[in-house]
Amino acid sequence: MIESILITGANAGLGKETARQFALKQETRKVILFCRNRAKAEAAKKDLEEQTGEKIFAIVIGDVTDADSVRKAVEEIKDPVDAIVLNAGGVVGKTGANPTPSGMNQLAATNILGNVILVEELIKRDKLRKTVLAVSAEAVPGVKMLGVKRVSMRTSSVEEFAAVLDGSYFGDKFVALQAYAYVKYAETMSTLSMARKYPRLKFVVVSPGNTKGTQAPESLPPPMRFMLKFVMMPVVFPLMGGMVHTLEVGAKRFVDVISDDRYKSGVFYASKEGKLSGDMVDQSTFFTDLKNTSFQDNAYEAIHHFIT
Ligand SMILES: NC(=O)c1ccc[n+]([C@@H]2O[C@H](COP(=O)([O-])OP(=O)(O)OC[C@H]3O[C@@H](n4cnc5c(N)ncnc54)[C@H](OP(=O)(O)O)[C@@H]3O)[C@@H](O)[C@H]2O)c1
Repeated sequence: MIESILITGANAGLGKETARQFALKQETRKVILFCRNRAKAEAAKKDLEEQTGEKIFAIVIGDVTDADSVRKAVEEIKDPVDAIVLNAGGVVGKTGANPTPSGMNQLAATNILGNVILVEELIKRDKLRKTVLAVSAEAVPGVKMLGVKRVSMRTSSVEEFAAVLDGSYFGDKFVALQAYAYVKYAETMSTLSMARKYPRLKFVVVSPGNTKGTQAPESLPPPMRFMLKFVMMPVVFPLMGGMVHTLEVGAKRFVDVISDDRYKSGVFYASKEGKLSGDMVDQSTFFTDLKNTSFQDNAYEAIHHFIT
């Protein structure tokens, strides 16, 4: 039973909806909203209390691109949590290639840095009891329609993963959506490595699928944002079938994978090959690199080159 849960990036989109759905479960006693902006967090808390009629939300402030702010936030978490959803992230957009003090670029730091530190600091303090869910994306196995190719690394060595994280892998050709696929791959592989390192906990990777009603399109370059918001999401994807769903459905994937023992540790669950919605399947059944434990460990090691 999951009685307490912490969700990063919980003031908007999928994070906030996941908080709402967990709060409505009878057994839930506490939902911690981990957010970078106090005012947005307070507004989300108020809205969630009104929507659910529950007063079980707490706020912890931290910016996942800033290691120190995450470590400080961990000090505020007094009681152990049963589950954590590493949801803060996204495509980031133009500033994604900019460096952060950690040495990761903004894109990698947003999707990986603070999320990993948070989990490891909680584990160190024995404050994580059951489940870690890392949020990934169908961009990893590839989304042809959006021009995102399946991630294909030359060697998947520690050095190559490190180059993805600092951005040098992409040279002058930083295409935000394609780089996002590589960063989510690094996050996914590292999480699968952690599933083996911490067999007492359940570590799962989940894509919410192509989800309407989040802030995500706002960070895309203007032509792509326009196409996605006004053409692809409302017209093209629904016509194709199995390509888009609501916020409720996207967040329910997280709730189901955490709550249901049929979803196993060490697996990346997302849509069937070529789909962006519908049933979830183990992605390694058609993207076999995901099973390579050396690649997984290389991703874990590369990420830790940036955590000091
Ligand atoms: N939407 C989709 O179709 C889709 C598909 C596949 C995967 N995903 C993944 O799902 C997750 C949630 O996406 P979403 O669509 O719900 O996006 P969203 O609506 O943009 O929400 C992202 C959340 O992350 C927070 N965040 C961003 N940077 C942060 C930072 N440095 N520190 C702390 N919090 C930060 C945002 O806070 P602010 O409000 O302060 O910016 C916001 O609460 C992401 O990991 C995304 O990659 C989404």
